[in-house]
Amino acid sequence: MHQQSLAGKRILLTGATGSLGRKTALALASMGAALLLPVRNPAKATALEMELQSAVPDADIRFLTLDMADESSILSLAEQLCAENQPLDAMIHNAGVFTKAGLASPQGTEWHQQVNALSPLLLTRKLLPLLTLAEAPAVVTVTSLSAFWLTDGGKSCNSASPTQLYAASKRQFLHEMQSLAQCHPAIRFVYAHPGVCATGLFTGGTHQTAYNAGFLKIALPLMKLLFPAPKNACRTTLQALLHGKSGQLAEPGGLFHIWGKPNFVPLEKRM
Ligand SMILES: NC(=O)c1ccc[n+]([C@@H]2O[C@H](COP(=O)([O-])OP(=O)(O)OC[C@H]3O[C@@H](n4cnc5c(N)ncnc54)[C@H](OP(=O)(O)O)[C@@H]3O)[C@@H](O)[C@H]2O)c1
Repeated sequence: MHQQSLAGKRILLTGATGSLGRKTALALASMGAALLLPVRNPAKATALEMELQSAVPDADIRFLTLDMADESSILSLAEQLCAENQPLDAMIHNAGVFTKAGLASPQGTEWHQQVNALSPLLLTRKLLPLLTLAEAPAVVTVTSLSAFWLTDGGKSCNSASPTQLYAASKRQFLHEMQSLAQCHPAIRFVYAHPGVCATGLFTGGTHQTAYNAGFLKIALPLMKLLFPAPKNACRTTLQALLHGKSGQLAEPGGLFHIWGKPNFVPLEKRM
């Protein structure tokens, strides 16, 4: 799959400093894409830059600043990129958070909803003019199995669990992308979920973890043993970008859609 060339393609990838994002960035850089990597943590950006450049010495990487929890940060990034008026061939919504319930963003919105749904929607809408400048633009959404079976069932933010809040935010974003896709048929809207993978998502990354430390001490080594490594788990994202048709979801094709080679299904079938 990585034999395909993305030379000359400008691709924006969020969450590149995370476990799946790093592997996705590495694969894209090795295919020759020019990467725009909006991140919020400069130290992680430096580490990632070194990693990418040692693996792909001529990698074309540009780091930008973005805090997905804060809409003003989205607006600044969009303003900066739109002022440059360069075509954007693809944007990959990979940043995501799973944290405690009850946290509010600077705009006062529930944290999962802000980071996983409202901010990426705003970013997409603001960058539509750049996507439409590209010859065959694509928007890739990294979603989660939980979006298909674990939503909050209409509970208020006060009573929903972190898992329900996470799942509901992921599902909300899918609905937003589906409705945007209807208005923009020239843009290929594709979707991917990685199955399950032991990543910073479960340990909380720089957030408060949704699980307690004792549980994670047992669960994480087991997850690492049982579930695919990030390098394999991110294959669905790459598959969606490279081969997905509009409206298709790339998911692991094996047992419970957690393991296995990527397969395509219509997103509608899972909603
Ligand atoms: N791991 C799984 O089993 C699994 C399953 C289904 C779906 N997913 C999805 O896969 C995607 C990647 O997650 P992952 O598993 O690789 O988790 P991860 O290692 O925690 O990576 C999450 C990424 O999102 C970034 N991010 C979080 N909040 C942000 C904010 N406020 N502003 C800017 N960036 C922010 C993180 O930045 P920092 O590095 O600065 O923290 C990090 O780069 C997510 O969309 C997740 O929902 C994962």
